Amino acid sequence: MDIHAQQLIDKLASKHFLEVEEYRLLLESLEPELADYASTKARAARQPIYGTQVYTRGLIEISSYCKNNCYYCGLRRDNGSCQRYRLSPEEILACADEGYELGFRTFVLQGGEDPYFSDEVLVPLVTQLHTNHPDCAITLSLGERNRESYEALRDAGAERYLLRQEAASPELYGQIHPQEMQLENRLRCLSGLKELGYAVGCGFMVGAPHQTSAHLAADLKFIEEFHPAMCGIGPFVPHHATAYANEPQGSVVLTCFCLSLLRLIQPNLLLPATTSLGTIDPKGREKGMLAGANVVMPNLSPAEVRAKYELYDNKICTGEEAAECRSSLQQRMAEIGYEVVIDRGDPKGGVC
Ligand code: 5AD
Ligand code: SF4
Repeated sequence: MDIHAQQLIDKLASKHFLEVEEYRLLLESLEPELADYASTKARAARQPIYGTQVYTRGLIEISSYCKNNCYYCGLRRDNGSCQRYRLSPEEILACADEGYELGFRTFVLQGGEDPYFSDEVLVPLVTQLHTNHPDCAITLSLGERNRESYEALRDAGAERYLLRQEAASPELYGQIHPQEMQLENRLRCLSGLKELGYAVGCGFMVGAPHQTSAHLAADLKFIEEFHPAMCGIGPFVPHHATAYANEPQGSVVLTCFCLSLLRLIQPNLLLPATTSLGTIDPKGREKGMLAGANVVMPNLSPAEVRAKYELYDNKICTGEEAAECRSSLQQRMAEIGYEVVIDRGDPKGGVC
């Protein structure tokens, strides 16, 4: 193993930061032994904080409509072949009730940027969800909104917000998004959410088209500096109806290495082993967990809409009922020595 790279892992494990060039060097030095070394250190960093516990979040995909046109995503507005749906507030509340029975104590309402879900619709919905399940955390993942909206949703009971930066490098962000989308706006939303007191989740894809190790290093540095409560990362997976249909998918090994580095950057980070990782490798989520992740996000959406929320091809769990989804994950986690718990899954060790 490259001794310099090993020393950088040691430095990261003890100091929790590196220069951006050092992140790049680490990413470029990736080989199996270094990945093993990093994942062992990452598990050791997670152990005193989260032990072998796995937190779950029940994901409710509320709308496949999106006004944006991200080049990589199957839900982009110009994809005429995407089957669009939106759940009614009643359906969303019913998903949460079912999830509660199954042991979920966090609900993530995720969707494309769908103008139908205005504050007039969302505020009463979040209020009702909070009233129905006051012991649960409500997470929103509904893209860029204005500050007043984030504030109203917080006041209604939402505590967490997921908004991936997608690419902290303006160059890469500009390559994978149309001109009308600006990294600046994304970052403004992220800092606004933090100021409003949300537990904020960021994230990025690994292996996105045009992405270099310098771009990935910029994302790692961004996470180190922004210090989010959560970070969702997963491999890029092509979608057949996008311009990136024939681009290669991201690598499982590189994604897991990034998970290990993120765990070392911030030991109490809430770090999901994502569905996209499980999509490109049948053991992807297990591998993610062993690399340092501590969260899984099973799908609670009604079975009949699952396949329509098609961010990328071959997404897993589209044929399962919510209960099957949770129990199969529980079993998978048990097989590798981890325990799915019934818990809100707040970050431990003080404010992130
Ligand atoms: N491959 C992997 N992840 C994707 N996302 C969107 N499209 C893809 C894709 N083709 C991710 C984005 C978004 C999240 C909801 O899904 O990072 O933030
Ligand atoms: Fe819309 Fe999100 Fe897909 Fe972009 S990544 S097109 S914002 S659903």
